[in-house]
Amino acid sequence: MSSIVSSRNPDVVRRAVEVLNAGGLVGLPTETVYGLAARADLDSAVNKIFHAKGRPADHPLILHISHSSEIHRYAVNVPPEAISLAEQCWPGPLTLLLHKSAEVSTLVTGGRDTVAIRVPANECARNIIDLCGHSVAAPSANVFGHVSPSTAQHVLDDLGDRVDLVIDDGGCTIGVESTIVDFTTSQPQLLRPGGLPVEDLELIMDRELAMPSGESRASGMLASHYAPNCSVVLAQNVAEARAMHEATPNSRILDHWDNFPLYAATLYTQMRQADKDGLGTIIAVIPPKSGLGHAIVDRLSKASFL
Ligand code: TXA
Ligand code: MG
Repeated sequence: MSSIVSSRNPDVVRRAVEVLNAGGLVGLPTETVYGLAARADLDSAVNKIFHAKGRPADHPLILHISHSSEIHRYAVNVPPEAISLAEQCWPGPLTLLLHKSAEVSTLVTGGRDTVAIRVPANECARNIIDLCGHSVAAPSANVFGHVSPSTAQHVLDDLGDRVDLVIDDGGCTIGVESTIVDFTTSQPQLLRPGGLPVEDLELIMDRELAMPSGESRASGMLASHYAPNCSVVLAQNVAEARAMHEATPNSRILDHWDNFPLYAATLYTQMRQADKDGLGTIIAVIPPKSGLGHAIVDRLSKASFL
């Protein structure tokens, strides 16, 4: 039986660490989406993540650490630019792809010699990782290919008894996954637009990020992903969305298209709600590709891919 515990429970950190140290799985709140966490140094626990999600073993996981100084424990030859970015943006919705250290199991990296690392902004999550004394591997806590979870209930809806303990910290404030930047290539590449807008990163780095190409690009960047059961169709603007809605029975227009932070924060909840309500189609107005709009467009395109 999986249990659920509030992040406000004074015993929450101790209970979560007990589960992790025993090789169990914890539904961990982060500012982006809920993660399915296991101690990254316990191969049997990491294996449970792949089984619970139905995720292919060659899809690498993100290591979550509690402080930027831990980067050198899990990564080697870290470029100064990546260190500077980590110091300025962590804790926060940014994942860095680096060369892995000997301490990182190839089970976590899908057989690669690179590792994805981030420090989540959620304080409860960081306290758990800190007390654990080791990084935790955590993909989004959904069934492979399905919509990511932005509440504790979403985690239970997808994984049920396959997760030992879920920590309820309410809805995720950002609502879309972290931005992933690859620092193992000659020029840093944007592997996934996410919660930290590319414009902000480029301003801090004082240069443009390259588009993904080569080895790193291939894994986990499937065309179809983040998808509800109903179909998702995209509208260029509100007028088009309204016309589509009138012409499509059992459909609904996604709310908050005019407010990017709210659109992102409610996107996955709205997709899941559409399935609960038995809708056939949801109609999403595509935002411009700027700020959080970039990540929203990316997720909507993948959800609508047939
Ligand atoms: O916001 C987030 O990043 C959330 C929360 C839980 O932290 N996590 C998340 O994990 O979105 P996941 O597993 O759903 O997505 C991780 C992405 C995948 O596309 C995976 O292929 C990529 O990161 N990734 C991880 N390690 C990699 C590596 N060594 N090389 C290339 N891609 C990697
Ligand atoms: Mg995911």
